[in-house]
Amino acid sequence: MTQIIGHPEHTAFSGRLRQRLNELGAAVLSIKPDGTCDLLGDHRWEHSLIVRSAPFAVAMKSHRSQLLNNTNRRVNLWPGLVLVPTHTASSNENAGNHPGAAPIIAALLLGNEILNSEQLARVCDANQTDLRAAIAKFDMNALMSQSETNRLAQVIQWMARDAADLSWRLHELHDLSWELAGSYEELSLLYKLSTSMIVDHPPQAFLEQACAEMREVVGLRWLAIQLSPDEPGFADLSVPVCVDSHSSYDLAGIRKIGPQLIQAMNNRLEPIVLDDARVLGVPGLEQFAHSLLITPLHVDGKQLGLLYGADKINAGSGFSTVDSKLCASLGGSLSIYLKNVLLYEDMHSMFLGTLHALSITIDAKDSYTQGHSERVALISKQLSEAAGLDTQTVDRVYLSALVHDVGKIGVPEAVLTKPGKLTKEEYDLVKKHPETGARILEDIRQMQDLIPGVLHHHESWDGRGYPHGLAGLDIPLFGRIIGLADAFDAMSSDRTYRNAMPMNKVLDEIRRCSGKQFDPQLADVFVKLDFTPYLNMIEEHHDLMRSA
Ligand SMILES: [Fe+2]
Repeated sequence: MTQIIGHPEHTAFSGRLRQRLNELGAAVLSIKPDGTCDLLGDHRWEHSLIVRSAPFAVAMKSHRSQLLNNTNRRVNLWPGLVLVPTHTASSNENAGNHPGAAPIIAALLLGNEILNSEQLARVCDANQTDLRAAIAKFDMNALMSQSETNRLAQVIQWMARDAADLSWRLHELHDLSWELAGSYEELSLLYKLSTSMIVDHPPQAFLEQACAEMREVVGLRWLAIQLSPDEPGFADLSVPVCVDSHSSYDLAGIRKIGPQLIQAMNNRLEPIVLDDARVLGVPGLEQFAHSLLITPLHVDGKQLGLLYGADKINAGSGFSTVDSKLCASLGGSLSIYLKNVLLYEDMHSMFLGTLHALSITIDAKDSYTQGHSERVALISKQLSEAAGLDTQTVDRVYLSALVHDVGKIGVPEAVLTKPGKLTKEEYDLVKKHPETGARILEDIRQMQDLIPGVLHHHESWDGRGYPHGLAGLDIPLFGRIIGLADAFDAMSSDRTYRNAMPMNKVLDEIRRCSGKQFDPQLADVFVKLDFTPYLNMIEEHHDLMRSA
C-alpha cells in the first residue's frame, strides 16, 4: 500500500474512498498500531454492536500484526466478517492521536454467515443484548452471501489500489507544480536581475534592488549582502539590508554580523543552511536569527562576499532545498555581477588616471597654467551639481573639463608662454586648440560625449566666441559650463601677462558678463558656489610650483 500520509491530496483521496465504501454498505475502521479501533463516518447499528464489543477487541488484538504488517491482504476475522485494509490514515483520519505511526484504514464487510456464528452470540452476551432481538435489528438486505462478500472485498482492494495509485500521481503532480513554481520564480528573478546588471549604473542601487527582490522571493524576515572588506573596489559600497515590512530589526546590528560571518565561513564556498544559527558561535547573532541561510559569493575561487538571510516568514516552515538552490543560483549571478563591478572599477580608474596624466601633460606646457585643467574640472563639477544635473552627467562634465584644452598640444610652447600681446597669426594658432582637441578625441569611442565640452568651451553666449560662433542655447551645455569655469580660473590665477584678480572682482566680472559671454542661468548658480575647495587646490598648485 502506498503511504503518503499528511499530503493534501491524500486527505482528499481518503475522504472520497471512505464515502464510496459507505455507499457499498461497508463500515470504515481506523485500526491503531495497538489493535484498538474506531468506526469512521457512517455505519449501521450492527457494525457498532460488533466493533465496540470485547470479543471483537480480542480478535483484533490477535490479528493486529496480520493487519498491520500485510496491508495488501484481506482478513476473514469471523465467519461473515471480513476486514479489507485500504490505506494508511491521512492527517484528518489520524487527528494527531498517533504521531509515531498512522492507523490503518480498513473496510468492514458483513456477510449473512455471521447470523449463525458463535462469535455473534458472544458479542451479544458481552453486550448483554438478546441475540434474537439483535439479529432482528440487522439490515438483512445489506448482508451478503460468502461469494458476494469475497467479490466485494476483491473490488474494494482493486479500488483502493487504483485510488492509491491516483493519489500518488496527484502527489507527484503537486510536487512537480511546486518545483515548477519555484523554478519560474527563480528564472523570472534571475531574468529581472540580469537586465539590471549594467555595471556603469550605480552598483549600490543595484545591490539594494537585488537584496529586496531576493528577500521577497525566498520569503525571509531579512536578507543582507556583505561584500569582502579586503577588496578596495568595494570600498564605496555599503551593506544593503532588506527587512520584511512587518518586522523591526536593528539594521546596523545585522550589518555588523556580516564581517563576522565571513570569518566564520572560513573561505567555505558552498552555501550552508542552519536550523539553529547559534551553532556558528557568532556573538549577538541570536538577536536577529533563529535559522540562517548563508550563500558565499565567489568567482574562480575568489571570495567576493556573502549573501545572508534569516528565518522564513511562514511560521514553522524551515528552509527547503528549493530555498538553498534558489539562493545558490542568485548568489552565482550576483558573484558574476560583482566581478564585473571590480573589472569596471579597474578600467574606470585606469581611464581616469590616463585623463589626469593627459591634463597634467597639457598644463605642463605652460608653468602659469599648471593645475588649470584640474581646477576647471573641479569647478565644472561643482557647477553641474549645483545646476541639478544627474550624477552620470556630472561625471562626464568633469572628464570633459579635464581634457578641455587637450588641443593645446598642437600650439607651440613659445606662443602659449609668450609674456606680451599675441600677434594675429599667434592668436589664430591658439584659437585652433578646441578643434584640434575635438579631432584628437574623435576616434576614441569612450570619449565621444566629452567632445562638445572640448570643442565649444570658447563659444560666447552672444555669439562672439569661437570656433563656430554659436550663441545662447545653441552652445552645448558642456561647452557653456566648462567655458564659465575656464574663464573663472583664468581670472583667478596668475598668468604670464597679469596677476590673479581678487575673488570678489572675479565674481563681479562674471555677473557683469552674464547674458553676454556666459549663460545667465548658469552664471546665477555659479556666483553662489562654495569656492573653498577651489582655493585649497590653488594653494596646493602654488606649493607644487614652489617646490619644483
Ligand atoms: Fe581653452
